[in-house]
Order: sequence, then structure tokens, then C-alpha cells
Amino acid sequence: MFSQRLQELYQQRLNRVIKDRASGQNAKIWVDGRELINFASNDYLGLANHPEIVKAAAESMKEFGFGSGASRLLGGGSVPHRDLEQKISQFKGTEAALIFNTGYAANTGIIPAVSGEGDVIFSDELNHASIIDGCRLSRAKTVVYRHRDVAHLAALMKKKEGKRTMVVTDTVFSMDGDTAPLRDIYDLCFSLNSELSTPNSLLLYLDDAHGTGVIGNGRGALAHFALKPQPWIIQIGTCSKALGSFGAFVAGNRDVIQWIINTARSFIFSTAIPACAVAASLKALDLIEQGPELIPRLWRNRNMLVDALKGMGFDTGESETPIIPLKTGSVDEALNLSQYLYERGIYVPAIRPPTVKEPRVRLTVTAAHTEEDISSLIRALSDYE
Ligand SMILES: Cc1ncc(COP(=O)(O)O)c(C=O)c1O
Repeated sequence: MFSQRLQELYQQRLNRVIKDRASGQNAKIWVDGRELINFASNDYLGLANHPEIVKAAAESMKEFGFGSGASRLLGGGSVPHRDLEQKISQFKGTEAALIFNTGYAANTGIIPAVSGEGDVIFSDELNHASIIDGCRLSRAKTVVYRHRDVAHLAALMKKKEGKRTMVVTDTVFSMDGDTAPLRDIYDLCFSLNSELSTPNSLLLYLDDAHGTGVIGNGRGALAHFALKPQPWIIQIGTCSKALGSFGAFVAGNRDVIQWIINTARSFIFSTAIPACAVAASLKALDLIEQGPELIPRLWRNRNMLVDALKGMGFDTGESETPIIPLKTGSVDEALNLSQYLYERGIYVPAIRPPTVKEPRVRLTVTAAHTEEDISSLIRALSDYE
């Protein structure tokens, strides 16, 4: 049964292939016995291999061991879990925070915890798959608005007046690298909230997975747009990208966090993330706060690459961040470009449907890349025919 279905995937060139590294996650990686320059990682600040993070994780492992043994509510948590939550709420300027095992678990657990049958969720059409799955699990009616189109969002919201409502958006879109028009979305939610009989009952849910550590001086999208956290804003973020660690978090007001602790199934019914991963995330936040050179280096590299690509006539779409899509027009062309780069010693996987509608290679540039790494990519792309 599956062999026939797999054949169809192979014929359409839509089958996925796992390529495992024989090295740590870094600007250079070893794959299939070769060293490749890596433009595929979300380790934006190059922290995944940072000696202080490795040390923090190792020291925590000596104290707490590796496995956490139970869900957080059954004693699987540790003092570092609590410390990280305090640190995140301070970092994000919220009353409270809660750690999740992954961003996927956060979105699929929290969205159904805060929205349910009879409610309406307004979701950007390019939101991450984990948001889409969270919306499905919630059983709320999900209304999809055109990508970054606040006028469309407002018009759709008008039609559903009277329902309990939540607006959901990625802050930095993971496959296009553009940002949500957060100031306009915030203003819309703010004004609609002030008209409601139950104040603050319209929620704004932000997935800051690719904003945390990258924009707003590392503090993420709200800081980037000079917006203040509000009781009606729920922010999630991941520790697995710019923090170079693993895990995720939600930050918001005390009541919403308590509600999530009591109702989010992916939190309640899943073993707690190990303390060593939590200790690594804590150290990453320290490094971001104390190491002011990391974020500017990331942006220097990003601007260098984007300027060169534009100079060569490449269309980098609406990218405003270290995520840079090169849309190829077809699946074959995305695979050909990826394979060509691979042969030139550069790792950039093709991204195809159903992950995205428009096939592309997705470049991610990090603070760990050297000028020479970026020049090698530019040279390879300029030789591509
Ligand atoms: C926008 C967004 N949200 C959530 C996730 C899921 O995070 P995690 O990898 O921690 O499950 C990702 C990761 O790919 C993402 O890009």
C-alpha cells in the first residue's frame, strides 16, 4: 500500500530525504564524508556549539542527570526550569512564562487550550504548520486571511463580530523571512478590544520562533516594533533556533500561563524537557544579553549576502531577516540548484510542496559564517547556469 504511494512521491520528486551530520551544528558541517558550508541552519547566532553553552549543559547534567523522568506536573521539572521561566518573562517583559518541549508542542497545546468550539481564529495564510495543526486541534472555526494583509483581516473580523476571537501570526515567517505587520495588527486588536464588553478577551497569539534572538535586539518582534506586551497577547518562542538549544516557551500574563498549565495537553501529558537543555537555553539568554557583538555580526552577514544576491539579480522576495528564499519556479529547479550547490560544497536543501506552495531553496545565514563562507556561496550562485 505504501510502496505505491511512495512511488507517486518519487515520481513527483516530492520525497524527503534525511541527511545526518557527522559533526556538530555549525557554519561548516560534515555530511556524507564531506565538509559543507551550511546555509540551512536556524542556529542564527552560532550558539549551538558555543563552549559556554556546552559547558552549562554538561554541568547541569552532572547535577541533574539526563532524563527528567516525568511530566513537569509529576515532578519532572527542576530548579533550572523555574529559573529559565523567570529569565524568559524578564527578557520578554511579561508577568510569567512556561517552558514547552518544542515549538510544535507549544502551538499544538496552547492554541486548543485558549480557543475552542464556537470561537473563531484568524490565521495568516503562511503561518507555520504547527499553528495550522494547533488551530485544527482547537475545533475553533479557523478563518485564513491573506498573507500580511491587515485590511483583509479587519474585513473578515467584522463579519464574525460577537464571537470569541483570536488572531494568530508568525512574527517572522519561517519560509519567506518577511515579518508580520505587527504594529497594524496590534492597533487593530487594541481598538477592537477596547470596544468589547469583556475587556481584553480578543487575543493576539504571536509565534516568535524566528524573531527571538534575531530582531528587537534579540528580544523579538514586540521589541522590534516598539510595542508593549499586553494581557491579551500570548507570545511563544523557541529555544531551538537563535538560542542554539532545544525547547520552547510561552510568555504572557499570570492568568493565561496558569490556564495553560492547567489545560494544555502537550504540557500536561508529556515528559519534561531535560534540565541540561534548559540550562543551555539559560546560558544562551545570558550570552545574548552580555555579548552585544553576536546580533550585529548576524545582521552584517545577512546584509552582505542579500546585497550580493540582489546585485546579481536574484529575487529575494520580501525577506527582511536572515531567512532568504530563492524561489525557483519549479520543484525540479529547486532540486537542481540544491544539488548543484551541494556539489560545490554548500548545503542548502530544496523546500517543496506541501511545505510551501512555491518551490525554493531557503538560505539561512548566521553569525557563525565567515566572509569567505558567504563569498563561496555568492561565487557558486554566480556560476550557476
Ligand atoms: C514559526 C515556527 N513555529 C514553530 C516551530 C516549531 O518549533 P520546534 O522546532 O521547536 O518544534 C518552528 C520550527 O520549525 C517554526 O518555524
